[in-house]
Amino acid sequence: MEARLKAPVKAPVEAALEGPAAGPESGGLDKTGGSIREMFAGVAPRYDLLNRLLSARRDVAWRRQAAAALALPADSLVLDLCCGTGDQALAAGNEGYRVVAADFCLPMLALARRKYAAAGGEGPLGAGADSLRLPFADETFDGATASFGLRNLADLDAGLREIARVLKPRGRVAFLEAAVPRNVLRRPYLWYFTVVLPRIGRRLSPCGSAYAYLPASVLDFPQRDDFVTLLARAGLAPGRWRDLSAGAVCLYTAQRERRRAS
Ligand SMILES: C[S@@+](CC[C@H](N)C(=O)[O-])C[C@H]1O[C@@H](n2cnc3c(N)ncnc32)[C@H](O)[C@@H]1O
Repeated sequence: MEARLKAPVKAPVEAALEGPAAGPESGGLDKTGGSIREMFAGVAPRYDLLNRLLSARRDVAWRRQAAAALALPADSLVLDLCCGTGDQALAAGNEGYRVVAADFCLPMLALARRKYAAAGGEGPLGAGADSLRLPFADETFDGATASFGLRNLADLDAGLREIARVLKPRGRVAFLEAAVPRNVLRRPYLWYFTVVLPRIGRRLSPCGSAYAYLPASVLDFPQRDDFVTLLARAGLAPGRWRDLSAGAVCLYTAQRERRRAS
């Protein structure tokens, strides 16, 4: 399968250190729904394995922290967007929330549903849904999570507004996104992220090109204060961010304002 890149990734660490390119061709990424769905259908069979491997199992703790950061009463209704193989929704369920897990890639969703069935009990409910056009009424959910999914949206502003739409006033969000450390680890991390990680992905995943898309899409995505600004524009404020694992991942939290942003 071809990489979801219209142009070659600026893979060298030096290029990555320069930061994201400006303009509409920023990163040269193709984020049309069909391409993204096809790419994740390709990585689905080995997605969990590679997640654990490439994060040295830290991903389990990150999702637990995101679920806890929602800080809602037990039994609250939570939407997990871009749920993939379902781990973030399971983590939210473990906090005592009722969870709807939504994704538009059916092979990923099928793996999530299998996981929920194996876990037994009243697990999350899996729903096929595009995050840019959610099939839910206004003000349905008490909270929303999205882990490593938002950077794939073709229109991030529209996606955030859609999340705000389905949240009740004062509904809370907790989002995880990959980030680039800003400390002394920045350079070695960029080497791992842009050189080593894509090589491992190419070897182990049936859709290895997705692991070139991963660093490219992270470098192209607004991080920390820049992302908090976008949250506020969508009516999700005050936004806060917290670095996890020395800044390799960022946890964002916010609350839907009482009146929706227009
Ligand atoms: C990197 S995976 C993250 C999966 C999961 N949240 C996790 O923590 O491992 C990104 C997921 O987002 C989904 N996705 C991307 N764009 C989407 C959209 N517009 N609507 C619904 N799902 C989308 C993909 O199908 C994929 O399953």
